[in-house]
Formats: sequence, structure tokens, C-alpha cells
Amino acid sequence: MKVFYHKNELKASKNKILAKSTGLVPTMGALHEGHIMLVKKALEDNELVLVSIFVNPTQFDSPNDLENYPKTLESDLQKLEKLKGKIWVYAPSASDLYLESIKAKPFNFGSLESTMEGANRKGHFQGVATIVQKLFEVLEPTSAYFGEKDFQQLKIVTALVEKEKIPVKIIPCPIIRHSDGLAMSSRNKLLNPKHRAMAPIIYQTLQKALALKEKYSPAQIESWIIDFFQLHPEFELEYFTIADTESLQKTSVLNGTKNRAFIAVKLGNIRLIDNIKF
Ligand code: PAF
Repeated sequence: MKVFYHKNELKASKNKILAKSTGLVPTMGALHEGHIMLVKKALEDNELVLVSIFVNPTQFDSPNDLENYPKTLESDLQKLEKLKGKIWVYAPSASDLYLESIKAKPFNFGSLESTMEGANRKGHFQGVATIVQKLFEVLEPTSAYFGEKDFQQLKIVTALVEKEKIPVKIIPCPIIRHSDGLAMSSRNKLLNPKHRAMAPIIYQTLQKALALKEKYSPAQIESWIIDFFQLHPEFELEYFTIADTESLQKTSVLNGTKNRAFIAVKLGNIRLIDNIKF
């Protein structure tokens, strides 16, 4: 495994080996089994796998959240080192990617960003799209791997490559869960033991909502969820939305298999998201 801190060094080395296929796994570090599965899938599919580790400041809407985001480069590298295959890590400083101006580009993703994470985290997807485009330009992967836990992000990145005509294949990968159902996330590390023990309720609630789908409308299920979390005041429900998988707009009538239920809650100060096919 090689580790690069500067894009020019990585580009020069990449030009020398002329890999037929390069898979990129973009991450913000604090790697967990979900990331490792993305890297393993990329290793199966490609000659060279690039893992970027960069906590991107422009996608955070709160300086506190950015400050508290876990940064664990040493242990991340140890985890990647254990995998078999050709892995190069790119762990740049902000200036290597943003040069002088740490700013997001003003993209317009229309309805894809007007709901859920886009509506609740101002500027978040502008920041994500800006950094993902920079990573694609610098690293020139043939494909890039994104987890469905950030389903809206996956749709935004897919729209980005279409809009900007970037020749990268986007590979969606399923959500990886702990044995108690909690979706793996770097933010889980920030939960205190009491909140960690309660966090599986998020997935359990999604499952209960799914069980109601035959008898109740999306609006009725949403009000059931709101009432449920009022009885569990440790959780602050930000949204529960049943949406169309393509438009990501809230749906009032279920559309065959093209629905997904999305949830965002806060447990203490930690914001967690999850989603399931609906
Ligand atoms: O999903 C993430 O970890 C980030 O949003 C990404 C895609 C690495 C961009 O910073």
C-alpha cells in the first residue's frame, strides 16, 4: 500500500503504471466495516484502488460538527494495510485540493437536493459535489464506489457525472449494518454508551414502518413515526420521509418497488441517518 499526501505525486505514479481500471473509494476517514466493504468491492473490480481520506470542510454546515468529526488517519491506514490488493491512499491537506479558496461551487441539483439532507443541511450537497468533482478530476478513476446509506448523496453524485459529463462509472453499494441493525457510520463512534445502546431503535422503527405499508398510507406512517419518537424524547426526529427512489420527492401513494423510507434523528448531539427500500 502506498500513501500520498500530494496530488501531483499520486498523478505522476499513476501515469507510470497505466492501470487498466482504477476504482475510487472516496471517504472522510474514520473507516469502518462499511468502508472496508466498498474497498473490497473496488478491489474485486479494478487493477488499482484509490482510497481518498479527506474531511471536506465545505460540506459541513456547522463548524462544531466539522471540529468534532472523528479524524483517525493512523488507524485508518492500519485497517487498509490488512487488505490484499493494490491500494493507494490519497490523504491530502485542504490546500492540495482547494488551493487558496476553500469554497463550494454553486451547483444546482433541483429537486434532488431540495429535500431531506439537502433541506436540512444548508450547502451540504454543493460541498459534496465540489469535492467529488475535484477528486474525479485529480484521480481520474474509471469507477467510484458509494454506499447507499447516503442514498441522496449517491443520487447527487450520479447527477453530477451526467451533468458534467465526467467519464466515471458510479457503483452503488448496499448499507452495511452492525449485528443489532444500526447502519455503520463514522459518527457512531461519537455516541456515548447509553445512546449507542439505543441507536438500533432507528432501524427497528424503519422496519416497523415497512410492516405498516400494506394497511396505511405514507402520510399515516409518517404520523405514526412522529408519535413514536415523541414517546422517545432522547431522539430528536429531524425527518422521516417516504420518497420516490428517482426524484427523491416525498410520495403520497406508494409506487411499486420505487420507494425508499429515509430518516434523520439526533441522539444527543450526534446526527444519524438511515434508509430502507420500501
Ligand atoms: O460520504 C462521504 O464520506 C463524503 O460525503 C464524501 C463522498 C467522501 C465526500 O467528502
